[in-house]
Amino acid sequence: MSPHETLAVVPVTDGVMSRSVAHDSAVKHVAGTARYIDDVPEPAGTLHVVPSGAAIAAGRILSIDLAAVRAAPGVVAVLTAADIRGRNDVSPVDFDVDPCFADGRVEFHAQVVFAVVARTRDEGRRAARLARIEYEARAPVVDVDAALEGGTTVMPDYEFRRGDVSRALTHARHRAQGSFLVGGQEHFYLEGQVALATPGEDGDMHVLSSTQHPSEVQHVVARVLGVPDHAVTCEVRRMGGGFGGKESQASQWAAIAAVAAQCTGHPCKLRLDRDDDMAMTGKRHDFRITYDVGFDETGLIHGYDITYAARCGYSADLSLGICDRTMFHADNAYYLGDVHIGTRRMKTNTVSNTAFRGFGGPQGMVGMERTIDAIAWTLGLDPLDVRKRNFYAPGRDYTPYGQRVEDNVLLPLVETLERTSDYRERRLAAEAFNEGSAILKKGIALTPVKFGISFTLMHLNQAGALVHVYSDGSVQLNHGGTEMGQGLYIKVAQVVADEFGIEVGRVRITATTTAKVPNTAPTAASSGADLNAMAAKAAARTIRERMAAVAAGEFAVRPEEVTFRGGRAYGGNRSMTFDELAKKAVLSRVSLSSTGFYRTPKIAWDRANKKGRPFLYFAYGAACSEVTIDTLTGEMKVDRVDILHDVGRSLNPAIDIGQIEGGFVQGMGWLTTEELVFDDKGRLLTHAPSTYKIPTAADVPADFRVALYDNENREDTIGRSKAVGEPPLMLAISVFSAVADAVHALAPGRPVALDAPATPEAILEAVRAARGRS
Ligand code: MTE
Ligand code: MOS
Repeated sequence: MSPHETLAVVPVTDGVMSRSVAHDSAVKHVAGTARYIDDVPEPAGTLHVVPSGAAIAAGRILSIDLAAVRAAPGVVAVLTAADIRGRNDVSPVDFDVDPCFADGRVEFHAQVVFAVVARTRDEGRRAARLARIEYEARAPVVDVDAALEGGTTVMPDYEFRRGDVSRALTHARHRAQGSFLVGGQEHFYLEGQVALATPGEDGDMHVLSSTQHPSEVQHVVARVLGVPDHAVTCEVRRMGGGFGGKESQASQWAAIAAVAAQCTGHPCKLRLDRDDDMAMTGKRHDFRITYDVGFDETGLIHGYDITYAARCGYSADLSLGICDRTMFHADNAYYLGDVHIGTRRMKTNTVSNTAFRGFGGPQGMVGMERTIDAIAWTLGLDPLDVRKRNFYAPGRDYTPYGQRVEDNVLLPLVETLERTSDYRERRLAAEAFNEGSAILKKGIALTPVKFGISFTLMHLNQAGALVHVYSDGSVQLNHGGTEMGQGLYIKVAQVVADEFGIEVGRVRITATTTAKVPNTAPTAASSGADLNAMAAKAAARTIRERMAAVAAGEFAVRPEEVTFRGGRAYGGNRSMTFDELAKKAVLSRVSLSSTGFYRTPKIAWDRANKKGRPFLYFAYGAACSEVTIDTLTGEMKVDRVDILHDVGRSLNPAIDIGQIEGGFVQGMGWLTTEELVFDDKGRLLTHAPSTYKIPTAADVPADFRVALYDNENREDTIGRSKAVGEPPLMLAISVFSAVADAVHALAPGRPVALDAPATPEAILEAVRAARGRS
C-alpha cells in the first residue's frame, strides 16, 4: 500500500472494511469546524474556573488568605479543599490519593491549592494573583538520581527473574555495562485540558470533558461531589489529541469544574492555560537505566541484568502499569535466557507522571536497544547483525514473563526492510562519507519493535456498544471508545456499515457518553478498535439477525439465507432495500436496537506470581533511519527514514499510515528535541513552546517512506487487524541509535556516552567525550 494512495470515495457494493476511507472529521479538522469543548456554545450564565498552583514544591501551607481574591471584580466564588462535599481525591487507583486541592501539604510546584470562579477567565486570572499564602518549604527531591539517593518510592519495587544471571554474566566471554538517562515528554496535545460542567435537577451533573476515559471522569466527579455514579454523565465528542495525557489526568479539571457548578448552581467551564497545563499535568516518565550484559563473540546474549528507575512524581497515578509495561518491553524483540529485569518507582516532588503513547514500553525498549548497540561497539559488529542474532525464534521463544512468542514475524519483516531500504549499501556509503568528512558524520540504524497488545490490568480488556437502526434505515452508533484524532470512530463505523451491507455514510457516529455505554475502559493501550469494533459488530449482528428474520418472512426463505450488501437485503431471487426492511421491521414490532459486548479472549496475568499471557498478540515493525550530525555544533538532521510496519490486515490503510507517520515523528521529538528542565526548586522551566521544542512539519524527514507489512493477525481480532496507535512511536529509536552510530564513528570500539534526548547539547557532549578519549 502506497502512503500516497488517495482517499477513495468507496463504492457502495464491496464493503468498506480495509479501505482508505477518509477520517470522518478530516475536512472539519482542516476547516476549523470540528467542535471542541471550548467551541460549544456556552449555556446562559456560564462561569469560568481558574485553578491556582502552589509556589513551592514541597512543604506545608501555613495560612491561606483569599479575602482579596473574593473581593476582586467578577469573582463569584473561591474554592478550596473545604468546599468538597465528597472526597478530595482524583486518583485513578485505590492505593493512593491525588488531592483535587492541596490540603495542608504541598508535594509539587504548581499543585492546585485553590480555584477562582468568575464571570470571565480574565477576571478569574487577575483575581487569583491576589491570594496571600504562607508556606513552610523544605528542599524538594527533584530528579530520579536524587530520589535514588534518598530511596523514596511511590510503590514497592518489582522484578522479573529467570535463571542464574550472575553466573551467566561471570561466565560470559564478553561483558558491557552502562548507565544512562532517558528523558520524559510533555504531551502537547493541541487542545489542552478542558471541561464544562452543567448542573441539572436533583443533584445531576452533566460534564463535557476532553478525556480518553469518560467512565473514570464520571466516577471521579461523583466521588468528589459525593453523589452516586448515576447522577453524573460524562460526554466527549472528540479530543484535540490525548496521547495518554487524558487517560487519568482529565479527571481533576472535570472535578474542579463540577465542584464549582455544584457550589454556584451555574454551568462552569475550566480550560487550562497552556503554561498551567504544562506545569500542572503529568508527563512521560523519565528513567535512569543501568545495565550489565554478558555475550559471546557472535553477539549472542548469555546473561542480562537491567534496572529501570522511574521518576513517578509525587504520587502513583498510573505508574504501576506504566513501569510494568517498561518491564514487559525490556526484551523488545530479543530472547534473553538468564535475565533479571528490575524496576524502581521513585517518588519525587514533581507533578505525577502519567500515560504517554507506549505507556512505559518505549523506555523499556530504549534500554534494550542501547544494550545491543553497546554489544556491537564492543565486538566491532554491525548492530543489525547483533539484533538479528538475538531475535526470538522457535525454541528461543519465551519472554522473561513467560509468554511464548508464537508468531516469528520479525525476522522476515526486518530482512524485507533491510533489502528495500538498501541498508547494507547505505552503511558502506555512510562509512565512506565519514572517512572523507572531518566535521559532518553520518549514522544509520535499523531497529525493530515488538509491542504487546492488551491492557495488563485484565479487567480493562472489555468494551460495550449501543446500535440503533431507525425506521428510515439510518443507523446510530455509540460505543465506549473515544476519538482523539486516531480515527477510531471511522474504523468502527466501517465495521458496522459492513455488517449491515450499507454505505458508511448511513452510519451516524455519535459522541461517547456514559449514559449510553457504561463501565467502559479508557481508550488506551492502542486497543480502541480491537475492543470497540468487536462490541459494535456484536450489537449490529444482533439487529441484523432480527432483520434477516423479517426479510425471510417476506422472501419465503430461511433467515440464514438472507444476505446484506450494497444497501439491500437479498433472499431467494428477491430483494428489498435496507431502508424498506427497517421500516417493515418496525411495523412488525421488531426491536432495531441492541447493545453489544466484547471481552478479549485468551489473556490472563497474575502479577503476584508473574505468570500468564498478558498479551493477546504482538504488533511488529522496523525502521531504518539515517542521520547526519555536525560535530562542531551538535546539530542533527534526519536524512531518510524507511518504515515497514505490521498492522495485520489493515482496517483503514490511510488512517494506519497516518498513525505510523505521526507516532514516529512524536517519538523522534521525544528522543531528539523535547527536553523537560526542572530547576533545583522543582519548578518546570520548560513550560511553553518557546522553551520546549516539539517537532514541526519542517522536522518531518524529507525522505520518509512508510509501508505496511502484508500480514494477517493470527489471532481472531476485528477483520484480522492489529492495533496501531502506539507501536510506531518506538520506531523512532532508530533515530536515536543512528545518532549514537554517528558519534561512534569518531572513536570506533568505544561506548558512546549519549543520554536521551539527543539534543544538540547532548550530541556535542557525546562528541567531546568520544574525541577526548580517542
Ligand atoms: N493519534 C492521534 N491523532 N491523537 C492521539 O491523541 N493517542 C495515541 C494513539 N494515536 C493519539 C493518537 C495513544 S497514546 C493511544 S493509546 C491510541 O492512539 C489510542 O487510540 P486507539 O486505541 O484507538 O488506537
Ligand atoms: Mo495511550 S499512552 O495508552 O493513552
